[in-house]
This record gives sequence, structure tokens and C-alpha cells, in this order.
Amino acid sequence: RVLDGDGNVLVPGIVDCHIHNREPGLEYKEDWESATRAAAAGGVTTVVGMPNTDPVIDRPEHLELKFDRGEASAHVDFQSYAVVTSENLDLIPELDATGALGFKIFLGSTVGDVPPPSDGKILEAMEEIRETGKRLGFHEENGEIIDHYTERFKAEGRNEPIDHSHSRPVIAEQEAVERMITFAEETGTKIHMFHVSSGSAAEAVARGKDRGVDVTAETTPHYLWFTEDVMREKGNVARVQPPIRDAAERDELWRVGIDNGAIDCIATDHAPHTAEEKKVDDPFGNTWDAISGFVGLETEVPAMLSFVDQGRFTLEEWVRRHSARPAQVWGMYPQKGSLQVGTDADFTIVDPDREWTLEDRRDLHSKNCVTPFEGESFTGKAVATVVRGEPVFEDGAVVGESGYGTRVDVD
Ligand code: NCD
Ligand code: ZN
Ligand code: ZN
Repeated sequence: RVLDGDGNVLVPGIVDCHIHNREPGLEYKEDWESATRAAAAGGVTTVVGMPNTDPVIDRPEHLELKFDRGEASAHVDFQSYAVVTSENLDLIPELDATGALGFKIFLGSTVGDVPPPSDGKILEAMEEIRETGKRLGFHEENGEIIDHYTERFKAEGRNEPIDHSHSRPVIAEQEAVERMITFAEETGTKIHMFHVSSGSAAEAVARGKDRGVDVTAETTPHYLWFTEDVMREKGNVARVQPPIRDAAERDELWRVGIDNGAIDCIATDHAPHTAEEKKVDDPFGNTWDAISGFVGLETEVPAMLSFVDQGRFTLEEWVRRHSARPAQVWGMYPQKGSLQVGTDADFTIVDPDREWTLEDRRDLHSKNCVTPFEGESFTGKAVATVVRGEPVFEDGAVVGESGYGTRVDVD
């Protein structure tokens, strides 16, 4: 496992199936070029873009536009989900034929204009998606519960950032996970829970797996690293949906999700916004209209390697959840997520002992780099990123051509 005299280790290319590349339409936040530049610099060889762009990726033409933009400018290989709304159920077969990696439903309101479909429409959508053989992933928060508490907390004049996380309570996440598992049990559809933030939701996933439902789940480095104390320290900078939870939920996420295996995949939920939108100059004031989400592509490998260093994961368990498993979950394996002999494989070289601190977010490669990981120290870093045999990052620099990255073809 030691690759060279410096103690670097070669692992299969890291696969991140949850990024917001923001193109088309929100290029003031990020675009394919800048997102995949950050991916290359972070040791990530494949990324999958979320559909809450402008326009949203709800029609074949929009998906084609997103693919074309990626072909023109990406540094690493990529894919995209198509969104299902109450308006586009009839387009599911065509979105499948156009090459979407999978489908996504936003259950609660989040960033972007994608109102959730009714439960009846979700059941119908699941039947359509089952026929495509692809997987349906969820932004797994019950919007009704969130809207209720948000209105109540606003009326009570509570506006500390910490209350924002309580206005999106764990029960909203747990209930959504349980309801979608019940729907999937009924329809026989393969489902996925994006960005699971709490032990309670991870337990719901574990119960679904026990019942034989094909439910997979993901968590992110920030839910494993931080507790809600970070809201008191960093305010809006750390605001994200679902919110960062208390220590009990975080510890249970580790126990049930990681140690007992309910969580299949690690991803970032890389979600760039401008410093103005994140209100970095006033992180504790007027918080209800601050936006949620932050970047992660260049801190995910360091965060996970730090957990390996702390003995929370073995190197193998980390790599499985951050490469092979996400590729399998989304039908890209072994094209992605493996080191196949005889092919131009994707791989990442990491230095597991490299100590470093993210002193200044402006050292990152995204267009907008606000992240609660600014100021955090890590043990471990990607030192080279290789996509289909070609280096895209080495010696601390992004190398190679914008546009080299290509769409991952799936049946
Ligand atoms: C995401 C974004 O900014 O697009 N924000 C977030 O807080 N996670 C939206 C999302 O993932 O639901
Ligand atoms: Zn989401
Ligand atoms: Zn997201």
C-alpha cells in the first residue's frame, strides 16, 4: 500500500456523486470549469452535478445543455441527475434516454426553484423510474414540518443561526426517509438518500435495508466533522440544508452510518455561493435570509484522511465509500471506482501524513470558496489526480486542458 519512498498511497479515483456545479445559469457562483478544477485539486476524478440550476434540469434539452457545457470545459469526468417535479413525470423515459445518471426529487424547499411533487406524484414517478432501471435520490427533508417551524421561529423573533438548524429538525429528515422507504417498498424502485445528516435518519435507512428495500445513503464530511456548536462559532458560514446536528446525532451517525454500515457513500454536497449570499461580513445578523450550502471539493479527501489518521476508518473502508461504492450505487462501476488492469484507469495519489491547515479560503480553486472548514487542520491531502491515464493535478497545480473531462456513459 505504500507507493513510493515518500509514503504516498495510490487509490482508485475518488467519485463525488453530489456537487452543485451551478451551470447552466448560475455561473456567478460556479461553473463546470471551476467546479472540476476544484475537483482535480481535491483528488476527485468523477463528479455528478445536481439539477437545481437555471433552468432546472427537468427536460431533455436542459440535460443536453448541461452535458454540452461540461464537455466544453470540464477537467475531470462528470455526470448529471435529472430532477422530477410535479410537471415532468411524462418526460422520465426521455430523460433516461438522454443519458441522465439518475433522478432527483427535492422533498422540502431548498436552494433554487424546485417545489416538491405531491406524495401521489412521487409514487407515480417511482413507478416510471423503476422501469428505467435507474435510481431515484432525495433531498430528504419534510418541507411541511420545516415551513411550520420556520414560520413559528420567525414570528417568535428567534434569529440566531443556531435556530435555523432547529427550524429544520431531525424529525423532518427522519420522517422523509421513512416515508420514501415505504413508497419504495410498495413500488420496487431503487432509492438513495442524499446528504444524511443525523443518526436518526441513518437508523431509518438501516431499518429500510433490513426490510429488503434497495435504499442506499450518503453522508458528507461536514456532518461527521462538526457539531451544531459550529453555528455559534461561524454562524451563516456553516449554514447548510440539512443542518449540522448536535453531538448525540453526530455520534449516532458515526455508529449506525459508518461503523454499522447504513451509509454507503461519502460525497461533498459542494454548494458554492458568493460571500455576499453567505453573509460572511455579518455571520450572526439577520440570518433568516442567508443562503445554505458551502464548498467542499478540496477538503473532502483531507477530512476523510484525517478520520483515517484518527483511526475512525481504515483506508480501505474510506476508499470503498468514496470510490467503488458510489460508482456501484449510480451504475458507473467498474468504468469508475476501480483500478482495472489494462484500461486507462482513474486514480488519486494521497499523502496520508501531510499536515496542513486551510489558512485562507482564497487558496481554493472554486469561484466562491466560503466554507466552515476554513481554519481547520488536516492530516492527509491529495498530491496527484489522474483521469483516464492523464494527470489533471500534480505538484500542487491543476494541469491538463479544460474540456478533457467527459461525460460518463451509462446504459
Ligand atoms: C444546496 C445548494 O446550495 O444548492 N444547499 C445546501 O444547503 N445543501 C441545496 C441542496 O443540496 O439541497
Ligand atoms: Zn439537498
Ligand atoms: Zn446538495
